[in-house]
Amino acid sequence: MSKQAQPSYPIHELLAKRWSPYWYDERPVKAEDLRSIFEAARWAASSYNEQPWRFIVATKDQPEQYAKVLSVLVEANQAWAQRAPVLVLGVIGRNFERNGKPNKAAEHDLGLAAASLTLEATARGLHVHQMIGLDPEKGRSVFGVPAGFEVLTALAIGYAADPAQAPEALRGRDTAPRGRKPLSEIVFGGTWGQVSSAVK
Ligand SMILES: Cc1cc2nc3c(=O)[nH]c(=O)nc-3n(C[C@H](O)[C@H](O)[C@H](O)COP(=O)(O)O)c2cc1C
Repeated sequence: MSKQAQPSYPIHELLAKRWSPYWYDERPVKAEDLRSIFEAARWAASSYNEQPWRFIVATKDQPEQYAKVLSVLVEANQAWAQRAPVLVLGVIGRNFERNGKPNKAAEHDLGLAAASLTLEATARGLHVHQMIGLDPEKGRSVFGVPAGFEVLTALAIGYAADPAQAPEALRGRDTAPRGRKPLSEIVFGGTWGQVSSAVK
């Protein structure tokens, strides 16, 4: 069973291989892989090169730190994410450091950093499952996140395991086919809703 994307046009194999598992192997992630994953995030583009992203990381061999990150997730995400060897909180700075003005691109740019991180992880045989289901205020109090910063997302990182070994509820999710809107619904030309000739 492969969760590999079935693209309509050729795409890079790293993009095709990426997917978000629910059932993780408990094998730890090597320290050198983790460093490179965050280095990849560091080199993402950002509006005015503000680099509004921050990450709070916990590995299973730091049980207290790991439990703190896990406690920030909503229960539905805790249920499966607790098998991942690495949990990360994605945090944004809401305002520009240079002038204190609101950074409208902060969420977007955390997404770019997460995408870079995810592709670096994929290249290393790892998987990343991002989450929005968490309690930002709990994240703030548990980790002392200062005003102006906000816990926005979480990421589970590790090796996808054989879903045949997963409990019924999770097995279905990891074996379900992957779907995407067709290009004709998302790439427009002359007017809204009119398919661009670029993708015909
Ligand atoms: C920003 C973001 C937030 C997400 N939040 C959750 C979440 O809270 N819980 C969850 O189970 N999956 C979450 N997902 C995973 C998506 O459901 C998943 O990426 C989507 O179904 C596409 O599947 P794929 O990543 O395997 O291609 C999130 C993904 C992203 C990018």
